[in-house]
Amino acid sequence: MPAGAAAWQGVKENPGIGAEDHRAVEIRPAQARDIDGLVIVEQQCFNVYYYAFYTLDRRDFEYYLQDADTLFLVATLDGRLAGYVLGPVETWREPPAAHIDSIAVPPERQRAGIGSHLLHAFRQQVCERGSEIVTLEVAPANEIGLAFFTKHGFRKVHRLRNYYGKGLHGLLMAAPCDLGHSETDTKQP
Ligand SMILES: CC(C)(COP(=O)(O)OP(=O)(O)OC[C@H]1O[C@@H](n2cnc3c(N)ncnc32)[C@H](O)[C@@H]1OP(=O)(O)O)[C@@H](O)C(=O)NCCC(=O)NCCS
Repeated sequence: MPAGAAAWQGVKENPGIGAEDHRAVEIRPAQARDIDGLVIVEQQCFNVYYYAFYTLDRRDFEYYLQDADTLFLVATLDGRLAGYVLGPVETWREPPAAHIDSIAVPPERQRAGIGSHLLHAFRQQVCERGSEIVTLEVAPANEIGLAFFTKHGFRKVHRLRNYYGKGLHGLLMAAPCDLGHSETDTKQP
């Protein structure tokens, strides 16, 4: 298993994942060979009005891959891409912080605990690199995203007016980096 990788057994049952697919999720650093799949996940997850139909493209993912300050993790289920999380670790900030630029799980893999595993791994690794808080932006209209981050201890810091475009506001959210004890919903075996 590559450095930084971790595996969990016991993905939560999901009607979209058959019983035969109830297998181990691996979290590992993203690699160039993941990019084709990542672009597809982006289109499936972010081609929506409240993000002004903005999606990361191949060049964006290539940038993140080579950026030394970015933590970029993917989840795989039996070797197949099942989600990603990425964002910069900014230890020069006060307090030292990491920022989640994006996190996504393809629709057919959602609500099975994979996003929670990705978030948990991201937090754990940025914490090890010295971050004290994790921040992110989310669209208020993204009710599932809001529910997801709120469940994981993120709280609204302030509203970002017209952040995604005219009339498309954002919310800045933040959480302490080390919430290990409250990550009860990462469905560890
Ligand atoms: C947000 C996202 C990453 C969550 O990933 P996931 O693997 O489906 O999330 P999990 O299965 O770990 O869910 C954890 C919790 O989030 C909340 N949640 C997730 N999906 C939900 C849904 N469809 N409805 C309501 N709450 C939901 C729940 O509180 C859930 O806990 P529970 O299942 O015990 O009730 C995924 O929905 C996604 O990719 N969305 C599109 C992209 C996006 O909006 N990203 C966030 C903005 S950057």
